[in-house]
Amino acid sequence: MHATLSRRQLLGTGAALGALALTGCHTSPGKVKAMPFSQTAGQGPLLLNFNENSLGLPPKAQQALADALPHAFRYPDQAKGDLMASLAHHHNVSGEQLIYGNGSSEILKMAVDAMAAADAQLVMPDPSYGVVEDYALARGMKVIKVPLTPAFETDIAAMKAAVAAHPGKSVVYLCNPNNPTGLMLPQGELNLWLGEASGNLSFILDEAYAEYVNDPDFVSAIGLTRHNPHLVVARTFSKIYALAGLRVGYGIAHPAMINAMSAQASIDNANLAGCVAAKAALEDPQWVSLSRASNQQSLAMVLATLEELGLKALPCNANFLFHQVSGDTALYQQRMAQAGILVGRAFSHSNGWNRLSLGRPDEMKTFCQTLIAFRQKGWV
Ligand SMILES: Cc1ncc(COP(=O)(O)O)c(C=O)c1O
Repeated sequence: MHATLSRRQLLGTGAALGALALTGCHTSPGKVKAMPFSQTAGQGPLLLNFNENSLGLPPKAQQALADALPHAFRYPDQAKGDLMASLAHHHNVSGEQLIYGNGSSEILKMAVDAMAAADAQLVMPDPSYGVVEDYALARGMKVIKVPLTPAFETDIAAMKAAVAAHPGKSVVYLCNPNNPTGLMLPQGELNLWLGEASGNLSFILDEAYAEYVNDPDFVSAIGLTRHNPHLVVARTFSKIYALAGLRVGYGIAHPAMINAMSAQASIDNANLAGCVAAKAALEDPQWVSLSRASNQQSLAMVLATLEELGLKALPCNANFLFHQVSGDTALYQQRMAQAGILVGRAFSHSNGWNRLSLGRPDEMKTFCQTLIAFRQKGWV
């Protein structure tokens, strides 16, 4: 199912949106305070299904929004320019290597559109983040979905074989760490393959969760974009920076690829609110540490509960966890929804496992209590 469609279908009601009252919270890194707002009974379901950062908007982003509001009748060129300059500094790349997107989903679309060719196929892991498939199909491309290995790892050897079997151009989508598994790609194998990027083999690297990665082996592909025009790295402010509703993403690529992507973008795709909030969040040295600390605290709590129940979980390098539910995933998801908790949907090749977004520790406490109650009923 298309991720955006499912989100609209699920959240189309005022009741669900009412649960999204935004309240900021800022404490010193490592010390995570329970938030005053909670999606408890009567306020809508607990949303652990879309990998949002439920700490809420960074306080500095809230302030920047308030300050910018009186200027919102102007086009956002200045604010966008300021954000891009800040991003260039942050990633140590030139401005010509950056492009703004209305969320990183738009970056993924621009990349597919820029790389599409009459004979091009898209090769992607399955399951993975699905929208790229939709974008490729809309361009008339053939899509090859390569199942993850039995250990849920991205099967680079099988993806390479799919590329080799195609006489025309291949566009390869890779999500690192992968959604829904949270697993990192094998770094050595990945780097070797990315080194082969050429006119006939382009890569879209989705690093939406990079800021959450714990594994010291992780290396972003950003460094490779400087000299190779056949790679795009997509990043987002929707996850660790907690700005999903403001729609800010960006792409990093060689200037030649950025030009090709620009040609596919809608003019003025940026909005003032997103630009000022993103810049403030990026420049807040404490926000990322706070978010990571909260995520780790939630993760530890959930892992302890899963262990107590004898349910396996994959190593987590994101703000979500892929874990066993020992039963039908769709039924589990339905029962969780009835208990007031929305968790991830069923994904291909992984029945009996579920993707759980890691909310705040207080939210995960509610989840853990519910999971234990499910065990008492023999449901997990
Ligand atoms: C792997 C991945 N990439 C991209 C996105 C899109 O994020 P956004 O368009 O909000 O930047 C998501 C959203 O959940 C995702 O999981």
